[in-house]
Amino acid sequence: MQFRPILLIAGAAAAGVLAFSCGGGSEPVADTPVNPEARAKFDGLCATCHGTSGKGDGAAAAALNPKPRDYTDKAWQKTVTDEFLTKIIVQGGAAVGKSMLMPANADLADKPEVVAGLVKIIRGFAK
Ligand code: HEC
Repeated sequence: MQFRPILLIAGAAAAGVLAFSCGGGSEPVADTPVNPEARAKFDGLCATCHGTSGKGDGAAAAALNPKPRDYTDKAWQKTVTDEFLTKIIVQGGAAVGKSMLMPANADLADKPEVVAGLVKIIRGFAK
């Protein structure tokens, strides 16, 4: 009986070491800061249509049809992959069969870290 707590602790420590070595140093996504260029891009460009709170209520949204959707909608978030978000951000709405009013951002094609930051911002609205 007396050995058991010690074995448990040893087991937990071993699992911790394993998790650490398998983690590849990646931190939990929510805790890492967003790429500053992505933040600047979202606030300066995307928010015009998507709104600073991601609800699709930016100043230019009134003129859009269909309107940008509400990024705080968790049900919608589950229906789209990061790959899809990446594609529409870089190639624009028309490339994925959506509104051509969602502009392409060809300048981001060779900046995957900025696109990843934008995807993270979008995901973050539903948290
Ligand atoms: C001129 C207005 C406008 C700007 C600027 C804009 N978008 Fe959009 N975006 C739209 C519209 C409209 C849609 C909806 C397209 C549809 O549903 O057919 C959309 C859709 C999207 C979607 C797909 C969501 C879905 O409905 O599946 C993503 C992701 C997105 N935008 C990201 C961005 C990002 C990131 C930026 C900035 C780099 C940006 N948008 C800039 C208008 C805009």
